[in-house]
Amino acid sequence: MRQLTSRILAAAARRYLGRKGGFDLAKVGMLPDRTLVPLRRAGIDPIPELGAIRDQAPVSRLPVPFGLKVWLVTGYDAAKQVLADGDGFSTDFANLAPGVAGPGGLGFADPPEHTRLRKLLTPEFTMRRLARLTPRIHEIVEDRLDAMAAAPGPVDLVAEFALPIPSLVICELLGVPYADRADFQRLAMARFDVFGGADASLGAISESLDYLRTVVETQRRAPGDGLIGMIIREHGDEVTDDELAGLADGVLTGGFETTASMLALGALVLLSDPAAFQLVRTTDEAAAPFVEEVLRHLAVVQVAFPRFARDDLTIAGTQISRGDVVIVSLSGANRDPVLGPNLEHPDPTRTPTSHLAFGHGLHRCIGAELAKMELRAAYPALVRRFPGMRLAVEPAELRFRPASIVYGVESLPVRLG
Ligand code: HEM
Repeated sequence: MRQLTSRILAAAARRYLGRKGGFDLAKVGMLPDRTLVPLRRAGIDPIPELGAIRDQAPVSRLPVPFGLKVWLVTGYDAAKQVLADGDGFSTDFANLAPGVAGPGGLGFADPPEHTRLRKLLTPEFTMRRLARLTPRIHEIVEDRLDAMAAAPGPVDLVAEFALPIPSLVICELLGVPYADRADFQRLAMARFDVFGGADASLGAISESLDYLRTVVETQRRAPGDGLIGMIIREHGDEVTDDELAGLADGVLTGGFETTASMLALGALVLLSDPAAFQLVRTTDEAAAPFVEEVLRHLAVVQVAFPRFARDDLTIAGTQISRGDVVIVSLSGANRDPVLGPNLEHPDPTRTPTSHLAFGHGLHRCIGAELAKMELRAAYPALVRRFPGMRLAVEPAELRFRPASIVYGVESLPVRLG
């Protein structure tokens, strides 16, 4: 979703600044500090200001330029209320102004379009369909660990572990032909290339959409076993090639960077907490609650898609007017004290609490179970294979992303021990 940040900002900029073309992400630095509070962090934690804002009120005004009226929701109950209210809120960018093109995909469609498209995807994400991926996920993880073990010197867990695992799992899920996987990996990486800048990333988006369109066209003639082939087989006449390529692209956007960030930051939690490391290494049953706790704690998708109020309505006593924009802070909601004590610290022995890391309501993450399968397979395998693993740099030297919707660490050099 890195490119999502730039696409959202670009849509807003085009509307309010009358600009054409790309939006320079560097300009994010020109937004008032208070505007960026929900996206800023100190290490893995949201900055304390976010909690202070939530302590004052679960819904507050976010100062935003471009003449937008924007609300920030930080309380858990209020966040759930907004995310559950599909009638009161839209995620369609046309709400900013008629004709404004949004980022596209499931997340930015409203019912009935959203319902129709989501129904095509849902059967591919049932536990029964996902179960076919379990052995492949374990193989993919083991292959990565083998490659890491064979590498000389410190290993970057982001490049060697966190990025390749979800990208290969998505190839498997979609049914990308084996011969194309190296190219697909390259495209997926380019989309999220930190150093490529927004333009390089936008180029990679259209390249990967073009590529997915050719996969769809080929599979129209000979449907494969993956998601693309299954949808063609079962609903081929209900969906155009462009729509199907767009859905596949949405799965890549939704499932790649998010899971990669969780793999890297969850590994960092393990490296920073020897007791958690030992627990996940030695106790099979510890993996599932650890995954739940880090999902809550890290809340890598920091804010939900923007919601546009369709009517005047009230959230937690605050009047929201029709047309207002509502930003739900998932990282704020996940640490709301209504969920339990001491939520500022990751505690893998905690009885899992409710959380909104995957959102809630009609846009709740369709890939939540798949993501959990990957995380439950990957964390224990990592610490079991490399019980002496430790950070190869001082924690203070780690570079995190400055302000992006999906939070992450740029690289995570480790010595495998
Ligand atoms: C740990 C990893 C993941 C996290 C934290 C995450 C988080 C989220 C969140 C918070 C939303 C809802 C946003 C909102 O309501 O505004 C969402 C939606 C979505 N996610 Fe995920 N996600 C993850 C993995 C995945 C995976 C593995 C896939 C697919 C392979 C995926 C595909 C999607 C799609 C297609 C949507 C849009 C659903 C809709 O609008 O109906 N995500 N995700």
